[in-house]
Amino acid sequence: MAQESQWELVWLLRSDPAPQPSMKGLLLILVTSAPGNSEPRQVIRRTWAAHEGPRAPQWQSVFLVGQSADIGVAQGIQREQQEFGDILIGNYQDTYRNLTLKVMHGFKWVAERCQPSYILKTDDDCFVNTDRLPEFLLEHNTIKTGLYAGSLFSREKRQVIREPSSKWYVSRQDYHLDEYPPYASGIGYILSLDAVERILWAAEHVHPIPVEDAYVGILAERAGIQVKSSARFAKHNVRWRVCNYRYLMVIHHLSPQEQEVAKGSMLQARSACHDSLEVTRWK
Ligand SMILES: *[C@@H]1O[C@H](CO)[C@@H](O)[C@H](O)[C@H]1NC(C)=O
Repeated sequence: MAQESQWELVWLLRSDPAPQPSMKGLLLILVTSAPGNSEPRQVIRRTWAAHEGPRAPQWQSVFLVGQSADIGVAQGIQREQQEFGDILIGNYQDTYRNLTLKVMHGFKWVAERCQPSYILKTDDDCFVNTDRLPEFLLEHNTIKTGLYAGSLFSREKRQVIREPSSKWYVSRQDYHLDEYPPYASGIGYILSLDAVERILWAAEHVHPIPVEDAYVGILAERAGIQVKSSARFAKHNVRWRVCNYRYLMVIHHLSPQEQEVAKGSMLQARSACHDSLEVTRWK
């Protein structure tokens, strides 16, 4: 008897829009976003997700949004999707504890329908350097398969939280070890398409836990993919100088105003930093 996938519910319920051609290119950026976060989405659309220049885009961003119990918010999402066509609406309830379903749904859609060469998963309070990242992937990245890179956590921060009131609580039943394997923070990690496919394969064998980024780390380990630590993914938004935007690919924790400033710095860095040596490795 064929074993039923533990993801049947999520896969079956998905409402799969047909991808645009630009979603099948070099890089697809999946941005987790809560239904009510229309402002961060708007800011992202006019800052780092806006395509600059006349060239055909090599990349595209898509927001991952689930179902909202609030009818007004749910209708707003439908309108946004009609206007911009950049939202993947899943049929799971959009709650923090369902973030893992959101990301796995996004991966499944990407692997089945889009098949870009690379996938970046990030959040709607993050800045993505869309001026450098696609170029870096084309010109400098040497890890074409099995790529999984981001900002890693120290060993102490990989302890499984057993306190039931915590938003990161995981029971022993759901994950029996005391420590997660090394994994990249959910603020932003990049995967090659084959890595996403192998992670989806592993997901059929591993019970989901609500800590999305740790879960991806568990799946990657199971699939034999080694996570690569890269300082190009910044967990903190300090006052990065313009030339840092030649190097950084993701910055976490930006307000809408800070997104505008970061976009300005990113564009300035194109011409302002010709003296600084280009770093051509992930590190
Ligand atoms: C996650 O979404 C599913 C499907 O909509 C729902 O049945 C479940 O209650 C949600 N879980 C949480 C923890 O919100």
